[in-house]
Amino acid sequence: MDDLSKVISGLMKKGIIIDKSALEFIKEKNVAPEDIESMKIESLILTRKILEAQLKKDDEVPAKKMEHDLGAKKERAAVLGDIRKPNLLTAKNLPHRVIIESPECPEPRERSANSFVEYFNARYNTLKNILSHRQELKNLVSLGRLTKYSSDKNISVIGIVSNVTKSKAGNTVVDIEDPSGSIRVIIMNHKDIGESEILNDEVIGITGSTSKGFMFADSIVLPDIPIPKGVRRVNDAVSAVFISDLHYGSRDFNTDIESRFLKWILSPEASQVKYLFICGDIVEGVGIYPGQESELIVKDIYAQYRVFEEFVEKIPEHIQIIICPGNHDAVRISEPQPVIAREFIPGLWDKENVHLVTNPAYVNVHGIDCDGINVLMYHGYSFTSIVDVIPDLRQKGLQNPQHVMKYVLKRRHLAPPYGACVAVPEKQDALVITKIPDIFHTGDLHSHAIDNYKGITMISSSTFQNQTPFMDKVGHVANPGKVTVVDLKTRETICVDLSS
Ligand SMILES: [Fe+2]
Repeated sequence: MDDLSKVISGLMKKGIIIDKSALEFIKEKNVAPEDIESMKIESLILTRKILEAQLKKDDEVPAKKMEHDLGAKKERAAVLGDIRKPNLLTAKNLPHRVIIESPECPEPRERSANSFVEYFNARYNTLKNILSHRQELKNLVSLGRLTKYSSDKNISVIGIVSNVTKSKAGNTVVDIEDPSGSIRVIIMNHKDIGESEILNDEVIGITGSTSKGFMFADSIVLPDIPIPKGVRRVNDAVSAVFISDLHYGSRDFNTDIESRFLKWILSPEASQVKYLFICGDIVEGVGIYPGQESELIVKDIYAQYRVFEEFVEKIPEHIQIIICPGNHDAVRISEPQPVIAREFIPGLWDKENVHLVTNPAYVNVHGIDCDGINVLMYHGYSFTSIVDVIPDLRQKGLQNPQHVMKYVLKRRHLAPPYGACVAVPEKQDALVITKIPDIFHTGDLHSHAIDNYKGITMISSSTFQNQTPFMDKVGHVANPGKVTVVDLKTRETICVDLSS
């Protein structure tokens, strides 16, 4: 690996993308990879300007460290200022564009065992198409061609996991299937195969050798996100705001946060805001869990949505509002969830700046003289179940949602084990992540996180609701009032804290 490749791969591991100007600067000035490795880079994109500033900082004497820290704070403040300062050409005067791509949500009908076969075949085929382009999976063989008498070396297979167990010797035993057959795969416990956690119903690639009807794995290959070619931006200085889990109707709804949000969105600080994403659990709902009634301040579901409509009415009309449902909303719980029906929010259905989408949904915004920014909205109902069965994620906790978000991105599926959420067995699996988003927006856990995985900005929105007894029971830790703002032109991301 040459020096430049080392730099790029080191930064990629930290979720930082290097742009062309920085690459040219490194070559020009012969910057050592170790110098870049030791830098504290706070931006998601490393540009020449940032690199020059960092190197200049490193050259200065340590006695000035305190001054540097202050400088860094000032730099960050400047970034915040760029987003918050009033702009002459504000979002109000600029055009908007919203393109929605929602999966089909057919009417309820009877399902048979065959519906599940079709559903899992669809999942397998979509993910197989992604995996079969992976370089690591050379010599691909379908499982039906492996017989118990064959002994093949350096082969690759792609299968859907039907069972995972541990042998007495501590090896992992994984049964996989494809439409042509099945095989038992042994992962020896001393082998570093890259991925230690495999769950049922995942579609994975495996390299290794076969003997006596078993396959011995050398490596596990996940569908994963490819290395990005660049960072997508829009031409205009506009921002998108990301919130979720408002829970109107709850006794624990935080009216102070709602007031501060409305005050902020009407202020010059938010003059660049053109899009507002709300990722489900608009209302607290009715009958979601036993004993919920005593925790409701608005006991009627229609009345809960009416209070939400009043909230939307106060948001300036030049802001496009994109709303998906969550598990507390008045739609079926099985995913994909359809849009919230007209009968619940009649005032919003005909409102030009309101866009109702399914859960999940892809939304492309501000594609004006450019490709726009692709946002994958998924409420995140499967995340609690996934965290629950994976020790590493459990240890990191539900208050750090970025880890489970990265987990599903790597698997290119929003709920790999069937049952992590209630999924409808359709002819297509709507939970496969077929497109690479620029922004992955979720909620449900009520914890706030902003992170980056291979160029994808991951946003877990918090809530407008204080901690509730139900959240204590399911292990969610509320971090209310954290609002994420993404400048779509620079892709700088900040958190506006409205909690106090
Ligand atoms: Fe919620």
